[in-house]
Amino acid sequence: MSLLIKNGRIITADADFTADLFVDGETIQAVGRNLNIKAAREIDASGKLVFPGGIDPHVHLDMPFMGTFSSDNYETGTRAALFGGTTMVIDFILQKQGNSLQSALDEWRSRSDNNCVGDYSFHMAVTDFNDNTRTEIKKMIEQEGITSFKTFMAYKGALMIDDRQMIGLMEEVKQHGGLINVHATNGDMIDYLVAKHRAEKKLSPLYHYLSQPEITEAEASERFADMTYYTGCPGYIVHLTCEGALNAVRNATRRNQKVFVETCIQYLLLDASLYEKDFEGAKWVMSPPLREPKDQATLWAGINQGLVQVVATDHCPFKWEQKLMGKDDFSKIPNGHPAIENRMELLYSEGVHKGKISLNKYVEVACTNPAKIFGMFPRKGTIAPGSDADLVIFDPNEQHTLSAATHHMNVDYSAYEGWPVTGKVKTVVLRGQVAIDNGKCLIEKGYGKFIKRNKVAGKI
Ligand code: URP
Ligand code: ZN
Ligand code: ZN
Repeated sequence: MSLLIKNGRIITADADFTADLFVDGETIQAVGRNLNIKAAREIDASGKLVFPGGIDPHVHLDMPFMGTFSSDNYETGTRAALFGGTTMVIDFILQKQGNSLQSALDEWRSRSDNNCVGDYSFHMAVTDFNDNTRTEIKKMIEQEGITSFKTFMAYKGALMIDDRQMIGLMEEVKQHGGLINVHATNGDMIDYLVAKHRAEKKLSPLYHYLSQPEITEAEASERFADMTYYTGCPGYIVHLTCEGALNAVRNATRRNQKVFVETCIQYLLLDASLYEKDFEGAKWVMSPPLREPKDQATLWAGINQGLVQVVATDHCPFKWEQKLMGKDDFSKIPNGHPAIENRMELLYSEGVHKGKISLNKYVEVACTNPAKIFGMFPRKGTIAPGSDADLVIFDPNEQHTLSAATHHMNVDYSAYEGWPVTGKVKTVVLRGQVAIDNGKCLIEKGYGKFIKRNKVAGKI
């Protein structure tokens, strides 16, 4: 089916102009003023912004974690993402220690295949790097199109790998054209502090925060930067939260190094005072925890300085009943919070509308850089002839309020309940199909495609 979008203000990472867009099949065919082309459907986008579809490269759907599963499955999670203007997500496969990467991929496919509404890909989390795992890296990259490998420097005893494994993995991944992403916090220090607080009967959510001080993240970020410097493997720090960690990355630039940095919407907007709300603080128990207002300032500045390239969510929702697993012990609260639907609107409202970032920067960090860093550009992440027709038509002036009563995520609270937002996603197009319009989802599960990704350049 063909589609003509008329008179929208088109924003990409480096352009801002008013034009028409002609879409035929799954891709954009033409971009220009007053296009005189007949289409099966026409949408008037006058007064609206038109962005490339958002890409959230950090989500956890239907993920087994801390004795339960994250509460959005591939259908509910990717549909909620579409409602919020995110047309593609990258989810995480977790290798089971002792098992192969292939068996983890098979397991994750059994939950995701034919269940996604929006497009998706996977990072492969390597939790056990050994001689067998080593042989699987090339196949993941070249045959499966999974070109990024996640590592955990924390979650000791569950997901954490040591530096010996990290270096070996980096050498292998570099050789085959992949990238390492990392949860960079010092797992041993955190393990010690959790045990100490539990022994002292300090068990409320506040102690989750106090068990992961800034230094645990700064130290691990620096160590990760050192290891990528030594091996030459492209590196990407996920969910970076604080000044100390960003300074480690900044320092690495002094020896001409580039480490990619992702922060998440919550670290830009929320702070650790939420942990003082007794058990309600469990809504924001995530790792790393929320930080301080000075860290928010560092992250906004980091975006404008080009040190932070991506704003993601680390969407990992748990219903309240699941959060209650840690009612008497913070270390048993499933870690994570819901945001997949809120990222694009919150970043627009708090970033662009309030004058902290430009419109082009907004598209860069929410759409374009994830596509570039993870090997999907220019198929995804931009508006140009030949690119997938993944588009968001956005009203920059509409005001609304976020609430669990109106969101589409499968979770019974909102981390942003009552938050006033300026700017609303009106229509979303995914590979040429109108997916969201007038508050309704018009495509079914199974429409979402697994996107095989290219080798990464390590440069953007
Ligand atoms: O709290 C979090 N972040 N949960 C998801 C797992 C992870 O560390 O990304
Ligand atoms: Zn993490
Ligand atoms: Zn995560």
